[in-house]
Amino acid sequence: MSTSTSTSTSTSTSTSTSTSTSTSTSTSAIGQPASRVDGRLKVTGRASYAAEFQAPNLAHAAVVRSTIARGRISAIETARAERAPGVIAVLTHRNTPRLPYRPHKGATDPAQGERLHVLQDERVHHQGQPIALVVAQTLEQAQHAASLVRATYASEPAVLDVSKAGPVLPTQEKTDQGAATPPQTRRGDPDAALAAAPRKVDQQYVIPREHHNPIELHATIAAWEGERLTLWDKTQWVHNVADEIGAVFGTPAANIRVVSPFVGGAFGSGLRTWPHVTLAALGARATGRPVKLVLSRREMYYGTGYRPHTVQRVALGASPDGRLQAIVHDGWQETSTYEEFSEALLNATRVLHSCPNVSTRHRIARLSVHTPTYMRAPGEASGVFALECAMDELAAQLGIDPVELRLRNEPQRDEFRNLPFSSRATREAYRLAAERFGWSRRNPATGSMRDGRWLIGWGMATATYPMNFAPASARARLLPDGTAEVSTASSDMGPGTWTSMTQVAAETLGLPMDRVRFMLGDTRLPRAPVHGGSMTMASVGSAVQAACRKVRQDALARAGIGGDIADVGEAMRRLGRPVEATESAAPDEQSKGFSKHAFGAVFVEVAVDPDLGETRVRRMVGAYGAGRVINPKLARSQCIGGMIGGIGMALMEHSVVDGRNGRMPNANLAEYAVPVHADAPPVMEVIFVPEEDPHLNPLGVKGLGEIAMVGVAPAILNAIHHATGRRIRQLPATPDKLL
Ligand code: MOS
Repeated sequence: MSTSTSTSTSTSTSTSTSTSTSTSTSTSAIGQPASRVDGRLKVTGRASYAAEFQAPNLAHAAVVRSTIARGRISAIETARAERAPGVIAVLTHRNTPRLPYRPHKGATDPAQGERLHVLQDERVHHQGQPIALVVAQTLEQAQHAASLVRATYASEPAVLDVSKAGPVLPTQEKTDQGAATPPQTRRGDPDAALAAAPRKVDQQYVIPREHHNPIELHATIAAWEGERLTLWDKTQWVHNVADEIGAVFGTPAANIRVVSPFVGGAFGSGLRTWPHVTLAALGARATGRPVKLVLSRREMYYGTGYRPHTVQRVALGASPDGRLQAIVHDGWQETSTYEEFSEALLNATRVLHSCPNVSTRHRIARLSVHTPTYMRAPGEASGVFALECAMDELAAQLGIDPVELRLRNEPQRDEFRNLPFSSRATREAYRLAAERFGWSRRNPATGSMRDGRWLIGWGMATATYPMNFAPASARARLLPDGTAEVSTASSDMGPGTWTSMTQVAAETLGLPMDRVRFMLGDTRLPRAPVHGGSMTMASVGSAVQAACRKVRQDALARAGIGGDIADVGEAMRRLGRPVEATESAAPDEQSKGFSKHAFGAVFVEVAVDPDLGETRVRRMVGAYGAGRVINPKLARSQCIGGMIGGIGMALMEHSVVDGRNGRMPNANLAEYAVPVHADAPPVMEVIFVPEEDPHLNPLGVKGLGEIAMVGVAPAILNAIHHATGRRIRQLPATPDKLL
């Protein structure tokens, strides 16, 4: 199946990046569509992922998991497992030392509640909870012995059905950088305005639980040397792993080294430090040997978080000419009994469209499940789905073009925080994407466009994601041979951080890219924030730029060479010894006076088979105003990945939860459907709206990782309505719902 894609060129980023402030005219690495500097390592198998590191005398671990969702372990029989070939240790709550589990809440941990304590007592809080760990000489021996462990339980009624969940409680929305908004927000008088509005949409939108399915399985190798611990781990935040495991074991985080140079996909599954990391460290401590623990695909469904199931009510009130008069957006989501995970579900509704009367109310249902987590565009992907489907319903009811309806409600400023937007590219995004898509040729009547027997539908939606920026630090070291080493403890789960940081460093240093060696993914490197929230380039990139600027200035000054076009390579040869600088970057005060978000629009063509109910996405055009683009090739890949992820959300992804016991019968890649190449449309276009925004960060970037996921599912569902006249308000839009 061909998946050839076409690239936009006429609206590429070159116009916005050519004016970038460069410290040297000899190179302009920023803005170049450079290929990945680590690409060769990856395709030749020389990039080592967590499970691929070697430690001498390595033992292997397997986890035994609960088969009930709630209750107590009344007995656990391990004798057969202990006698099995190759077994070194079997740990259960009966023989595992009590761990300190000191309080620790990193930015990506839920604000309320307490993390799961593994093998500390007989309580079972969720299906698939670890109840024993087997360590053996080989993986097969560990897995076999794990199958011999027998547990009996005193089951208690598990609450897995939301309708029986008891009170749905207010929850404070929290982003993956820790910022929070109250459970309920209100401006104007939304209830009265909704009641009085001449035109209304009032609907419920349901998104099922969706699971992270990165290709690389979560894995940890733990090795103790006395009080010092090394963890090779799949993570989006090495320092947070050290902090968390340090707190769990009562060991100073400084004694823990976490190594994670390559991550084979994550998008949220590696933001927290999950219980299996503790288990690997426990197994290594109990056996005195390095221990490797790799979760199976099935185990990932019970151990690394997921996008929570959400139910949302969106009510829109409008005048006949399409001016929004009221928005009421209520959402609730699932969480565990032991932690209150609460994503930014209603964040976008407060700023996306102009409206004098808006209320948002976010609530949470505590179920006998394990704690959900952030998953690509956490909050926005779900909340904007409901809002942008409702906007399409309103447009259809009013007989107004969906783009025109949005233009009529384009806000002048952030009406929630009452701040000016630092920049807002919605109008340009609608215009450029609509032009490229050919939106003006759309016949608004549903079911009016056909290709043979296929029903054709065109739909669109708005996308947005906040610009995040957290303090970060980086080190730059210039060497006498005129090369540089630049490093920071960031991560690269796939967007191309290795490469884009090399570009920032090369440009700032005034060196060609091949003279810069960039390194990340090790707690020995300068501290960086979580690699998430689309903020790595804003945060870590700014730190890399600052360190490179400083080391260049120092080198030139020491060599007695001045001027912007001075040759730093020549300076280093003259100096004959290394020069090093470590610098930090953090948001400045002035930027707090602005509301900072990336904005975009996505347009989609679907074809629906009228007999089989199958939906194929045929074309997608996304336009994004995300500030400066460091590498248009990587940025485009990033956006295409998000857009294809959105196809999964719209049409396929659904973690089926058995309401009797919390098991997920489709906890595997055979039955949990994700888009493959054959599902990706033959035409995918990404347009970067030129945007120069001086209020963001030193690099002028907004981040692209998450916004590309936002708006895709509603655009597809809106297109399905255009094709068929059917409103599907419950994801995913599988064929059964269209017949
Ligand atoms: Mo993203 S959900 O912050 O990895």
